[in-house]
Amino acid sequence: MVGLTEKKHVLGIIGFGGMGSHHVRVLKSTAYSRLRVKGVYDINESRMKTAESIGLRSYPSKEALLSDQEIDIVLVAATNEVHKELCIDALAAGKHVICEKPVTVSSAELLEIMDAAKKYQRVFTIDQNRRTNRDFVLMRRNVESGIIGEPYVIESRVEGSRGMPSGWRTIKALGGGMMLDWGVHLIDQIMYMIDRKVVSVYCKMFSIEYPEVDDNFRLTMTFDNGLVAHIEVSTNNYITHPRWYVLGRNGTLVVDDWDCSGRIVRRTDKEDVWEEEIIYTSAGPTKTMAPRNKNSTETILLSMPTDVTDDITVVYDGMLDAVEGRAELKIKPEQALRVMYVMEAAFLSAEKDEAIKTDI
Ligand SMILES: NC(=O)c1ccc[n+]([C@@H]2O[C@H](COP(=O)([O-])OP(=O)(O)OC[C@H]3O[C@@H](n4cnc5c(N)ncnc54)[C@H](O)[C@@H]3O)[C@@H](O)[C@H]2O)c1
Repeated sequence: MVGLTEKKHVLGIIGFGGMGSHHVRVLKSTAYSRLRVKGVYDINESRMKTAESIGLRSYPSKEALLSDQEIDIVLVAATNEVHKELCIDALAAGKHVICEKPVTVSSAELLEIMDAAKKYQRVFTIDQNRRTNRDFVLMRRNVESGIIGEPYVIESRVEGSRGMPSGWRTIKALGGGMMLDWGVHLIDQIMYMIDRKVVSVYCKMFSIEYPEVDDNFRLTMTFDNGLVAHIEVSTNNYITHPRWYVLGRNGTLVVDDWDCSGRIVRRTDKEDVWEEEIIYTSAGPTKTMAPRNKNSTETILLSMPTDVTDDITVVYDGMLDAVEGRAELKIKPEQALRVMYVMEAAFLSAEKDEAIKTDI
């Protein structure tokens, strides 16, 4: 709810491709009242025409947008390799900046932006918008409720079979590849949830269709309490795994898909009586893998949480609260820096084909 004295902020967008226009669409469709989109700058003339066609101003240059005194917030939604330059220019022009993910293509670049934010005393945040995804919130709430006991493995997967969109996502120098595209979201979710140090990173990367970049990867991160997070992103999977699969000491949680269907199976008794003789099962003769006694577990069905707002207005609220001095910034560059360190360790691990000891 906007109070009468609340200031309306004015947004300028640099880079008006798919994601830049998505921001505009969401801000309009939700009638977001704390911020008005004024105009855009894009190096592609046709994108400027598109902006004009929906009533936005198009600026002839980046400098022209940045010198508009009415604009106090700049969204950088250009391709990844120019985020650093554009963010620093906007901060130097006195703007608060929200940058699309991945914030940069290296930790060194991000540190430069953080220095600039400090120097010009502006708020700098990143659109790590998947912290409010309902599938993630559902998994996190249930795990943190203790219902499956202490978690020791969390598996997070996003899988498609259509390959990657052509263009910059397939080009290394432009910050392409699935680690920087989707990995950054999935690592951010895990690190947002688990407040522990990452002590080791192991990653396998594949270039199935796109030789320059990783179009599939498997990443294993170990935290200092022994918890293992396993993250996979694939663009070539015709049969998918569940979105989330979590092993706790007393049970297992599965969230099948983005629609949040899923279940928990947990044990209701602690001890199982072991038989003296071998058991003949569909797995052959085995005691270990024989089915459990039916009455020793319970199943809890999961469903979509209905109290979660999941769109970029949440990210803007977190930023504007910090700009107005109402609250601490929600998505902090320091958090993005840790994610960047993990991704850098993952690239190194994939290159050397060995686990990398970390202190992140
Ligand atoms: N948060 C999310 O869920 C999410 C989803 C998709 C994309 N993204 C991110 O958004 C950014 C843009 O991705 P996209 O899918 O919109 O790509 P896109 O190719 O559709 O759009 C990028 C736009 O940036 C413009 N551009 C490039 N260099 C520029 C410069 N120097 N100055 C001004 N404009 C410039 C291009 O002309 C293009 O119109 C990327 O960083 C991407 O990772 C985030």
